[in-house]
Amino acid sequence: MSRLILVTGGAGYVGSHTTIELLAAGYEVVVVDSCVNCVAGEEGKLPPSLVRVQELAKKSLVGFYRVSLTDALALAGVFEKHRVDAVVHFAALKAVGESVEKPLEYYQSNVSGTLTLLQVMREAGVHRLVYSSSATVYGAPQYLPADEQHPTGAGLTNPYGKTKYFCEQVMQDLAASDKEWRLVSLRYFNPVGAHPSGRIGEDPLGPPNNLMPFVAQVAVGKREELSVFGNDYDTPDGTGVRDYVHVVDLAEGHVMALDKAFSKSFRGYASYNLGTGRGVSVLEMIEAFCRASGKPVPYRVVGRRAGDVASVVASCSLAEEQLGWRARRDLQEMCEDAWRWQKLHPNGFRSCQ
Ligand code: UFG
Repeated sequence: MSRLILVTGGAGYVGSHTTIELLAAGYEVVVVDSCVNCVAGEEGKLPPSLVRVQELAKKSLVGFYRVSLTDALALAGVFEKHRVDAVVHFAALKAVGESVEKPLEYYQSNVSGTLTLLQVMREAGVHRLVYSSSATVYGAPQYLPADEQHPTGAGLTNPYGKTKYFCEQVMQDLAASDKEWRLVSLRYFNPVGAHPSGRIGEDPLGPPNNLMPFVAQVAVGKREELSVFGNDYDTPDGTGVRDYVHVVDLAEGHVMALDKAFSKSFRGYASYNLGTGRGVSVLEMIEAFCRASGKPVPYRVVGRRAGDVASVVASCSLAEEQLGWRARRDLQEMCEDAWRWQKLHPNGFRSCQ
C-alpha cells in the first residue's frame, strides 16, 4: 500500500508544486490549508491550485481540509480520519515586511502552528516531518557560499526569519528528546519559476514582495516599472545577488527529503540547503526575464530596502551527498516557466474561478 503524506499549505506556491511531485512519486496525499494566502475557491470545493494539481498529476488527492494549524481539534480530526505516514509542512506566513508590522500574527501562525502540528503528530504516533525553512536563518551570511555549518539565528532582523529559526530549534530539541522523530528541515534560497505546463505558479495576493513575481507583472503590463533596491552594493554590478532556484527543483528536493525521512538509517534532525550555488544579480534577472518573455521590463534604481544584504548564495553539496538532490534547471528555464504562467494568468488563480 502506498504511503500517505499530509501536506500543510499544499494549496500555496511551493506546496502545490511539491504535491504534484509527491503524487508522481507514488505517494497518496491529504492537503490541509487555511487558504489565508491563496485563492480558496467555492465553499466545499478544492482551491483552483489543487484542482490543477490533480489534473497535472492525473491523480486525486485523498482529501482536502480547510483548517488552520492553530486549530488543534480540527487538525487532530484529520489525523484520526487518515492513517498519515509523514507530514510535509509548508503552511506559514512569509512576507518579511509584513512580519515586522504584525509580529503576533507571524509567531502565532508560524511558531504556534508548528508546535500544534508537532503535538498532534505525537498524539497520532506520526514522527516523520519535512519542514519548509529558509536561508533567512543564516542572517547576513558571514561567508559565502553559506553551508549548513554556518551559524544560524544571529542578526535576524525580522519576525518572519526568527519564526523559521525558532521552529528549527524546536525540532532539534524534539529530536533530542525522543529517538522516534525523523525531522528534515529544508532551507530554501530564492524559489522562483512555475510548473512547465503554465497551469500553476506563484500567485501573490496584492503587490508582490519578491523580485521575480514583480518583474513578471511588469512584463505582462500589470505594473509600470520595477524599483531596483540599490545599485551600490559590493557586487559585480552593484545590485543584490541571490541564489534563485526553480520551484520544480525545490519540489523534487522535498520528495528526496521524504525518502530520507523514511530511510532505515536516519533518525533525529537534519537540515539541508536547497539552492543552485550560483548567484544572480537583480540586473541579470531583469535581462534574463526580458529574453524569456520578449517584453521590456522598465526599471528605476531607488534606495536600498531595509534589511537587505548584498549577496546570499548556497553551498548545496550536503543535499547532493546525502539526499542525491541537485538543482537541474537554469535561470533561463526559471524565467521561461514563470513567464508562461504569468502570460496565461495575468490575474493568477482569480481568473480560474
Ligand atoms: N528586489 C528589487 N526590487 C523588488 C524586489 C526585490 O530590487 O521589487 C531585490 C532585492 O533588493 C534583492 C533581490 O531583489 O536584492 C531579491 O529580493 P526578494 O525579495 O525576491 O528576495 P529576498 O532575498 O529578499 O528574500 C528571500 C525570501 C524571504 C527570505 C529571504 C532571506 O523571499 O522569504 O530570502 O533568505 F526571508
